[in-house]
Amino acid sequence: MCGIVGYIGKEQAAPILLDGLSKLEYRGYDSAGMAVYDGEKINCAKATGRLKVLYDLTHGGETMPGCSGIGHTRWATHGAPSDVNAHPHFNADKTIAVVHNGIIENYVKLKKKLTDKGYEFRSETDTEVVAHLLDYYYKGDPLEAVTKVMHRVEGSYALGIIFLEHPDVIYSVRKDSPLIVGRGKTGNLIASDVPAVLKYTRDVYFIENEEIARLSAEDIAFFNVDGEPIEKESKTIEWDINAAEKGGYEHFMLKEMNEQPKTVRDTMNPRIKDDQIVIEELGMTDDEIRAIKKIHIVACGSAYHTGVTSKYIFEGLARIPVEVDVASEFRYRNPILEEGALVLIISQSGETADSLAALREAKKQGIQTLGIVNVVGSSIAREADKVMYTWAGPEIAVATTKAYSAQLIAQYLLAIKFANVRGKLSDTEMAAMLKDMKKLPDQIEMLLNNKERIQKFANRYIAAKDVFFIGRGIDYAISLEGSLKLKEISYIHSEAYAAGELKHGTISLIEDGTLVAAVATQDDLFKKTLSNIVEVRTRGAFVMAVTNEGNTEIEKNADYVIYIPQTNKYFTNSLAIIPLQLFSYYVSVGKGCDVDKPRNLAKSVTVE
Ligand code: AGP
Ligand code: GLU
Repeated sequence: MCGIVGYIGKEQAAPILLDGLSKLEYRGYDSAGMAVYDGEKINCAKATGRLKVLYDLTHGGETMPGCSGIGHTRWATHGAPSDVNAHPHFNADKTIAVVHNGIIENYVKLKKKLTDKGYEFRSETDTEVVAHLLDYYYKGDPLEAVTKVMHRVEGSYALGIIFLEHPDVIYSVRKDSPLIVGRGKTGNLIASDVPAVLKYTRDVYFIENEEIARLSAEDIAFFNVDGEPIEKESKTIEWDINAAEKGGYEHFMLKEMNEQPKTVRDTMNPRIKDDQIVIEELGMTDDEIRAIKKIHIVACGSAYHTGVTSKYIFEGLARIPVEVDVASEFRYRNPILEEGALVLIISQSGETADSLAALREAKKQGIQTLGIVNVVGSSIAREADKVMYTWAGPEIAVATTKAYSAQLIAQYLLAIKFANVRGKLSDTEMAAMLKDMKKLPDQIEMLLNNKERIQKFANRYIAAKDVFFIGRGIDYAISLEGSLKLKEISYIHSEAYAAGELKHGTISLIEDGTLVAAVATQDDLFKKTLSNIVEVRTRGAFVMAVTNEGNTEIEKNADYVIYIPQTNKYFTNSLAIIPLQLFSYYVSVGKGCDVDKPRNLAKSVTVE
């Protein structure tokens, strides 16, 4: 999610807030705002668009005098980008100002409770619930109000808070969204990320989950979730600004790969309640779900690969026929879309021209459309009849990783929900699948920690000329994505093949030492894939296998084996893709390629 900053000290706050927000711009955002205490009241300015709009609106901060303030760059998750939805958000009498990074997962329930108590909401955001909840609990002691809110709110948050009745302090608290506190020479600061404070200090406290910071101009105090004082050690930041933007990782791609456990949690958790799947924004009734006769999944690149995966899941679980199309083909093949069809458009950016055109083609034929999109308020999100968001946050690297993983989760949830509503999956079976799904973030984390072994192996293939990825069923979909990752960031030629297709031509390409990545996570196809491994190996291939823990017999035939933890057969893409992402990343780094901005590629292909 995006950026928060705060400052309290001897200097004018607004210019410092604007400068801090400018250091967080690289993370992507859609609107910005700030609140500054002027000695009497809390003034606020906020605007959709680039930070420059806010800068110009406030004449570089001059129209907002005061030495204590909070600022925000928003990456919308709930409520389209707009001036009203931009942060800061306030309580009714504007005595409490809040900026927030993250997702309040139980905001619907809290919003209803507060509305029933007479609170009025101005925005569509989940964040505004926090401002009114602080108001509800505030009886004169800000720390008490903050701790009570922390006990009620579920989800992820990094908060900056100003209480008008306590203008000599700023409160800040986090759970699952990043937050740091900086001790500066002229005052103290909060921020989502180190780059925002480096100009003022390298003396930084990293706030842990459910810790509270209270900043005054001279002092910084810390408390736990029960309001008890705690001690914290500061760290001296050695990073330069460039390293700091990547959170200390060498590339955004590696940083985003490591954010996958969080983006899977953020996309999944708000939609699983008491073993039921609740997709707030979907707006489809059970009858509408039961009426679906066919699903067309249309996307590009990696998003298309997630569709190839979910075809197996929609058909396997919900018994709904599915066609998957590359968007650039769909729009020109005069598709036959019958009544009762649902067209699913998958897109991280929500602006991919071919995918947007496919959406419009479907709508022209009167077919219901559903967008699975990462960017709130993007064209596909706005134009689709229904939308389901992947809360992966801003993805900077051109090669998608965390958004891809979030797209998979969104489709797992949709397929399971459809299957359950259509009576093809019992509540008990659904509960068992959701139990497996909830383990995925930790399993992804464990696979990411395996990076040294993968890096060593990858270094052997920096000079590779051809690499083949093979698999059957969902393993074929995984191969498609593994191959694209390698091609797009290392420029090594690679092909993904349905393993059973090898003998129809491709196997002629296998020579001594050709690297073949064989994905074998589907137990019912394992033996078949094993025979394909033997086929290529007897022709000289070096086989890297990705398979489930326990399938040790594969070691008789594969040269190098990567095991993934046991999970539901429909979820293996979420795990098997991790070592393949790491492999491609380290080959690219070894070749000295521009990992985050590969040649010829754009993050969002908004032209045909
Ligand atoms: C994948 O790493 C690429 N960035 C590319 O294939 C991408 O998935 C494709 O262009 C679709 O983009 P979208 O999800 O924003 O529509
Ligand atoms: N969920 C909040 C919103 O949509 C905060 C998003 C963010 O982290 O920028 O406004």
